[in-house]
Amino acid sequence: MLALIIFFTLFSLTYASPLNECPKCGTTQVPYPLSTTPDCGKPDYKLNCNNGTLEFVSAGNFSYRVLSINPNASRLVIQPPLIVQNTCLSSDLGLNGFRIDNNSPFNISRSNTVMLFNCSDNILLSPLNCSSTSPCREFEARAQQGVGCRSTLCCSYLKDSAMTSRRIRVRVGGCTAYTSVVDFKPEISVDAWPYGIELQWSPPN
Ligand SMILES: *[C@@H]1O[C@H](CO)[C@@H](O)[C@H](O)[C@H]1NC(C)=O
Ligand SMILES: *[C@@H]1O[C@H](CO)[C@@H](O)[C@H](O)[C@H]1NC(C)=O
Ligand SMILES: *[C@@H]1O[C@H](CO)[C@@H](O)[C@H](O)[C@H]1NC(C)=O
Ligand SMILES: *[C@@H]1O[C@H](CO)[C@@H](O)[C@H](O)[C@H]1NC(C)=O
Ligand SMILES: *[C@@H]1O[C@H](CO)[C@@H](O)[C@H](O)[C@H]1NC(C)=O
Ligand SMILES: *[C@@H]1O[C@H](CO)[C@@H](O)[C@H](O)[C@H]1NC(C)=O
Repeated sequence: MLALIIFFTLFSLTYASPLNECPKCGTTQVPYPLSTTPDCGKPDYKLNCNNGTLEFVSAGNFSYRVLSINPNASRLVIQPPLIVQNTCLSSDLGLNGFRIDNNSPFNISRSNTVMLFNCSDNILLSPLNCSSTSPCREFEARAQQGVGCRSTLCCSYLKDSAMTSRRIRVRVGGCTAYTSVVDFKPEISVDAWPYGIELQWSPPN
């Protein structure tokens, strides 16, 4: 009898709630637990499927296109916001940059080198690399998107535990634009930088 109960308990755990993977969004696979509708994936892991384009929506309700997903590592990479042409203003500046809800299973991974542009002098007091050797100088000098940021004060930092892992902050009077590169290597030419903000999700329980 006990064996039977154990059997059925195991059986229902295994089969009654099968991993309910979402259908593809356009041509992009949406691995479990990522969720594009309430009836697939896990609701906390919500992404938007907007006319065939998979998007991550920030706490400020700004949509960032999903560039790639690595389900094995529980990571995905989203596109950093554009820098509005001929300015040094990120398109999400009005929302003070990128922010993830505190109770979200997603956070910003440690593989990101974040670069901040058009910074005011008071930012120099913070633990950022604003020196002439910071990689942000190369972005300003040589990247197409960096044109509007030329000769503004810029800084960079590697996302790590010293900074909050749920936001990249920009604001008027601080720094007004940013971008991010995943697994930055100084030897890679600026034209080939792997731009992206890598997010990591905790496994569903
Ligand atoms: C949806 O995507 C298709 C194909 O990319 C495009 O032709 C169409 O205009 C898009 N519709 C909307 C509402 O954006
Ligand atoms: C987020 O934006 C969408 C449209 O882009 C809107 O329908 C929705 O109400 C907004 N949600 C919040 C919480 O502001
Ligand atoms: C993920 O893991 C599966 C099975 O272990 C493997 O076949 C696949 O190549 C891996 N994918 C990546 C992107 O590492
Ligand atoms: C730099 O930021 C200031 C506000 O802090 C803004 O007024 C100015 O337009 C920005 N510069 C560029 C080139 O966008
Ligand atoms: C700034 O970053 C560059 C390139 O990674 C590095 O060589 C330099 O030592 C850093 N400077 C500071 C002050 O952290
Ligand atoms: C982000 O989430 C992952 C998975 O839950 C966790 O291992 C990691 O420590 C978190 N990173 C930071 C910087 O909090």
